Amino acid sequence: MELNIFNNENEVLAALAAHFVKVANEAIAAKGKFSVALSGGSSPKKLYELLASDYEDKLEWDKVYFFFGDERNVPQTDKDSNYLMAKNALFAPLLIDPDHIFPVDTSLEPKEAAAKYQEVIEDFFDEDELSFDLVLLGLGDNSHTASLFPFTPVLHDRLPGVSEVFLPDQNVYRITMNAPLINEAKQIAFLVYGEGKAVAVHHVLEDDEDIEEYPAQLIEPIVGEIEWFMDIAAAALLEN
Ligand code: 6PG
Repeated sequence: MELNIFNNENEVLAALAAHFVKVANEAIAAKGKFSVALSGGSSPKKLYELLASDYEDKLEWDKVYFFFGDERNVPQTDKDSNYLMAKNALFAPLLIDPDHIFPVDTSLEPKEAAAKYQEVIEDFFDEDELSFDLVLLGLGDNSHTASLFPFTPVLHDRLPGVSEVFLPDQNVYRITMNAPLINEAKQIAFLVYGEGKAVAVHHVLEDDEDIEEYPAQLIEPIVGEIEWFMDIAAAALLEN
């Protein structure tokens, strides 16, 4: 696992954008395509906007295949949709071919949407292992990642797949790649910045508590090359 600490949000985003393009170009050079599972929430929006604005000619975007590590159980036109966020920040500005974008079908019931998304991923990888070239992840202030939330049954999945998650406190469903599927990735990058995440980062990196409390610990450094991108606030806490 590689821990990269930067002084501010812009440095974190610039570093991860350059890393994204490096990993993508390596995959395209090796096998003619690059598969990535995008993270949602607010942190990655600026990353996607930076990629669209500064890296349009640095990568053969027509060889990139976009998936989602998780999705909210809302229409693809809803303001909370991770797909809509990525569409506005990245896909539309770069005129990405819709055939290269694999959103979760949230018109289905959560369990059905999860099962169908798992089929979509299995079809993409054909008979090969379900190994994305890169999985981007965020970190919630309660140490969740993707939609692997504390004390939810999905934390106990043992086979790579996609599950539905019910969040009782919010009374909403999410659809998420589970930890075994994320851990199949060739590389995993966490994008974390902001003082509000410092405690979560500390728990995930420093505590060896029950994963029920800190689900991001499920993501195994030994499998992928995990790179933590976070600002100095989080790092400052780690030094205490
Ligand atoms: C989502 C994400 C989730 C996110 C974290 C951090 O759909 O919300 O996939 O795991 O990465 O909650 O979100 P912020 O970047 O908005 O803090």
